[in-house]
Amino acid sequence: MTDLLALSTPVTIALVAGVLIGLGFVAWLIALAIRKRGDRGPDIPPGMRPGPSDEVLERRQREKVMGWGVLFVLLSAIWLPALWLGEPGQNVDDAIELISRSEQRGSQWFQETSEENPTGYGCARCHGEEAQGGSVPFTPEGEEEPIEYPVPSLSDVCGRLDVEEIRTTIEQGREGTPMPSWSVSYEGPMNDQQILDLINYLVSIQTVTGDANLCLNPPVADEEPAPGPTASVTPGAPTGEEPQQGGAGQGGGGSSPGPEASPGNA
Ligand code: HEC
Repeated sequence: MTDLLALSTPVTIALVAGVLIGLGFVAWLIALAIRKRGDRGPDIPPGMRPGPSDEVLERRQREKVMGWGVLFVLLSAIWLPALWLGEPGQNVDDAIELISRSEQRGSQWFQETSEENPTGYGCARCHGEEAQGGSVPFTPEGEEEPIEYPVPSLSDVCGRLDVEEIRTTIEQGREGTPMPSWSVSYEGPMNDQQILDLINYLVSIQTVTGDANLCLNPPVADEEPAPGPTASVTPGAPTGEEPQQGGAGQGGGGSSPGPEASPGNA
């Protein structure tokens, strides 16, 4: 019911028009049925009845057909521009709707799995239910004892990383830290849409405002190094081994300097 009420105006107009056309059609059928019952005289098949006279064909008949033509041309001359004018607004509405659904899904992926949220991936287990951060037991490589590894809050992550860096971090994880990789391209469980949902969700909960918010005000293309571990607890600092960047130096042949960085291109 609320869905019906929430329909946008153009959809409502189209619905009303559809219902009116349907009613008109029914009324027309009824009119036909009633007329048939009248006294029709001899039953001559339509194809064998005498046609209209030249007089009628050249004036009344022709003018009627042309009149309908003009009417339909006028209707489309109004209808098409009206559609066209409404289109940008419609697109914006659609985009807002899609993004808010995406945020909704993102918050489901973010929370832990539970009876109410069977599709949770449990970012909240480490990053906290409100993305407030925390810590998680972790045994760095080469160490014996687990330590309490600090987990950054994500409600202000846009103050540190822009969208692309957030995407890279979620997709690939952070080598040598508890942050796992989540993209199916990096042996994780999530597809690109799910990661986009998470990013939309994170952007929607930011406490960082204004220019400080790098997600909404991306830094102008300056070559920043890929985000590394924020807490330096790891011995033998891990070098980012992102498979996709391996192809960057391969174009030495001179023949194809194109940006083909796909891993399976050797
Ligand atoms: C096992 C614990 C754990 C889980 C689960 C986890 N993270 Fe993380 N995440 C971390 C840790 C620890 C870091 C910080 C790594 C470092 O030191 O650089 C981190 C870093 C990040 C960062 C970068 C933050 C920054 O300020 O640099 C993002 C973004 C992020 N995680 C998103 C996610 C998302 C989204 C999920 C769920 C799909 C998730 N994480 C699940 C532990 C986890």
